[in-house]
Amino acid sequence: MRRLIVTIDGPAGAGKSTVSKRLAQRLGYRLLDTGAIYRAVALAGRRAGVAWDDGPRLAELAAVLEIDFAFEGDVNRVQLGGEDVSRQIREPEMSQGASLVSALPEVRAALLELQRRLGAQGGVVVEGRDVGTVVFPHAEAKFFLTATVDERARRRFAELTAAGKPVDLDETRREIVERDERDTTRAAAPLRQADDALLIESSALDADGVVDLLERTVRARAAGGP
Ligand code: DC
Repeated sequence: MRRLIVTIDGPAGAGKSTVSKRLAQRLGYRLLDTGAIYRAVALAGRRAGVAWDDGPRLAELAAVLEIDFAFEGDVNRVQLGGEDVSRQIREPEMSQGASLVSALPEVRAALLELQRRLGAQGGVVVEGRDVGTVVFPHAEAKFFLTATVDERARRRFAELTAAGKPVDLDETRREIVERDERDTTRAAAPLRQADDALLIESSALDADGVVDLLERTVRARAAGGP
């Protein structure tokens, strides 16, 4: 069975993280979380005292970023220069930082080679916003995962509430609309579905239903099917 490059793109809150992780585990593939790479650049910038709008200096940091991923049980651990930064990069401040640094063309260009190198051998599920369009345009299996704004807001609200973070559903929905607007209209690698990506509208599906569909498609492709 060939080991493919599988890409999963889509907007915030569409369930990409859960689906990508389960799919990688079922296939015995690695998981390349490109959002975590942008988060790591934001963290590296903060530590080096580089502002999140300083494209040239952030690009220098990005060019020498030593990042590594490995499953530890159910958790995809992220290492930066040998240090486990899985927790730090998920802090709300780093979400904000990642959103800012990912809009800078210099940073995106500097990370292109790194992402390609990390996925080049295949046997990998790559998750992000532009991985099927820009990073791996020749990937053998591409998916674009989405859901309605209301459903994505509901999921995000449930997730935050379960984590003990008091939030307002209307506010959560507004944030998602704002983020969609920023992601789809930015000049550098905006979020869009690749022409050859399979569109999955997941509003009425649970995560395992989506993973079943993706797994069947990938296995068929790996066996030489359509
Ligand atoms: O998926 P995430 O929330 O961890 O992504 C963090 C930020 O990085 C988010 O603002 C979108 C951005 N990103 C990107 O621009 N391109 C990618 N391939 C992945 C993430």
